[in-house]
Formats: sequence, C-alpha cells, structure tokens
Amino acid sequence: TVSFRLGIAGLGTVGASVVRMVERRRTAMEAAGLDLRVTAVSSRDRRRDRGLDLTGIEWFDDPVAMARSGKVDCVVELIGGSEGAAKAVVEAALESGKSVVTANKALLARHGASLAALAEGRRVALAYEAAVAGGIPVIKTLREGLPGNTITRVSGILNGTCNYILSRMEHEGLTFEACLKDAQALGYAEADPTFDVEGFDTAHKLAIITALAFGTAVDAEGVSVEGISRVQPLDLRMADELGYRIKLLGVAQATEAGIEQRVHPTMVPKSSAIAQVMGVTNAVSIDADAVGELTLIGPGAGGDATASAVVADIADVARGIVRPTFGIPAAAMRASERVEMQRH
Ligand code: HSE
Repeated sequence: TVSFRLGIAGLGTVGASVVRMVERRRTAMEAAGLDLRVTAVSSRDRRRDRGLDLTGIEWFDDPVAMARSGKVDCVVELIGGSEGAAKAVVEAALESGKSVVTANKALLARHGASLAALAEGRRVALAYEAAVAGGIPVIKTLREGLPGNTITRVSGILNGTCNYILSRMEHEGLTFEACLKDAQALGYAEADPTFDVEGFDTAHKLAIITALAFGTAVDAEGVSVEGISRVQPLDLRMADELGYRIKLLGVAQATEAGIEQRVHPTMVPKSSAIAQVMGVTNAVSIDADAVGELTLIGPGAGGDATASAVVADIADVARGIVRPTFGIPAAAMRASERVEMQRH
C-alpha cells in the first residue's frame, strides 16, 4: 500500500468536496492499494463553518508554509487566480520536490510553461485534470488515450456559465444580463464573471488543451477571443429559424500556418452532437486520424464534479503516474523555437 499525505490549499466549494471525497472513498482506495489522507489544510478564514470535520488535520494560515512543511507529499491547489497565493503555493511545492494537483486554469494558461519546466526539472508531477471541463476526463484522454493518433482538431464548449446563459436565452427569450445574474446565483460563474462571458476562461482552458494535443508550450496570448456579452435574443431566434444554435466554442486546429486557437460564438447545426449540449454542461470533440471523432460530454463546473477530477489526479500521482506535463518537453521550449518548429 502506498501512503500519500495531502495538503489542501483553498477550502472553497471544490476544496471542501475534495476533503469529503477522499474520506468517503477511503475503503475503495485502500482496496486499490492507496492510503490517501488529508493531513493539512490552508484557507483564508479559519472560523468559517464549512460543515467539515477537520479533527486530526493540521491547519496552516499560510499555504506556502504548508507546501514547504514535512507534513505533506502532495499539494492540492484550489485557491484560484493566476498570481498571488496560488502561484506562490505551487512554486513552493514544486521547488521542495512535492507534486502538485491543481484546478487552476488561469495559472496554467499564464505560467504553464515555466511551472511545467520546474516540475519536470524536479521530476515531480504537475497534474491539472480539473482545470479543463470540470468532471470530464479530457486531459487523461488527450494525454494517455490516443498515442496511436495524430490529433488534427479539438473543439468544445468549455465554459458552463456561457452555455447556461445561451441555453436560457434561447429557451426563454431572456436577455443576457438576466441569465448572467442567475448563473452567478447558482455559483457557476467565476468571482469576476467577465472571465466567463468575455471568453477568457474558455481561452485559458483551450490553451491547456492545445498544448497537450499538439505538444506545444501553453500560449494563452495566441488565442483570438470573442465572448457572448453582445449576443442578443434576436440572434438566437434568427439562428433557430435557419436550423442552428449559437454556442461559445473554443477551437484549436493544425493549419499550414501553425496551430490556430480561437474562441467565439459559433452557429452549429441543430442536428450536431455539440448543439444538444444544454445548460452548465461542457463538451469536447477531438478529431484524430486513427479513431476519427470522439465527443466527451459532462458537467463542466460544480463542487463534486470538479473534485472528481481532482481525486483522479491525486490517485494517479500517488501511483507514480508522472507524465511529461504538456505533451513532449516542448513545455520548456521558448516561443521563438516553437515558431521555427511550426515553419518546418
Ligand atoms: N466558471 C467556470 C464555468 C467554472 O462556468 O465553466 C469551471 O471552470
């Protein structure tokens, strides 16, 4: 049996779900040879009632101190945001030779290349299934499921908030603003909903997918982005009359000029698989030469669904499944080298 001590940084909805899930799945994990234990937690407000039993778990006010302490083998970063505490915790953990599991798409989109290089240099894992498409195992599929294939295109609905808003606007003829308020009330949206509705959250997730699918460095700045805030009920009605729905898609594809990455509202035929995806659900379609087209559909946000992806990463890391972080060692490549590679 492998014993593995976890330190959870950030006890929001997802963090609390992870603590409960590790406990709830203890017997099943032990049967699989894994003794997983949350031994430390760190969050902003110690007194807040999260409905968690934290008896026997060490509390750290400072997540970086937790990451550096001898109390944990793996740090689970669920703080969020591309800078500040989240970045400091991940760097401290990797530097002290601990593996990291994170749900932080903004952090990876911005600093993925340098963090991957750090992890690979220390020979520890940087795992991020929960950063893309919530509970859908899309990272595992791209990383491990298709070694016999060349991937030519990946596209999908990667933001639950936008898909929820567009679905309700279409069904009920409501305005964008009214639907956004509801999405916020239901807890799907990011702290700053601009990230969701202007397409940046989709762009962050797409950049991570692209790096894995095409073996390049993460390049969020290379994504052209248009969100849904200017979509009107009339646009949806017109699309409907023509036999289409409007979805916010992220698309990455290999072209002669290199890898193209874009995010924008897209008309999709009502008969297509992607058009059937309504509400907070996400979907990812992968075109690969041998297998053809695969579409994965599932919950893109929410505490338990996201925790499901976090716990999958924890189990992999505990078992020693430590893959190169982003495809080939391209993670460590500089942008200039990447451009050369695409030209050849
Ligand atoms: N705000 C995100 C969404 C949460 O709506 O999809 C999951 O990343």
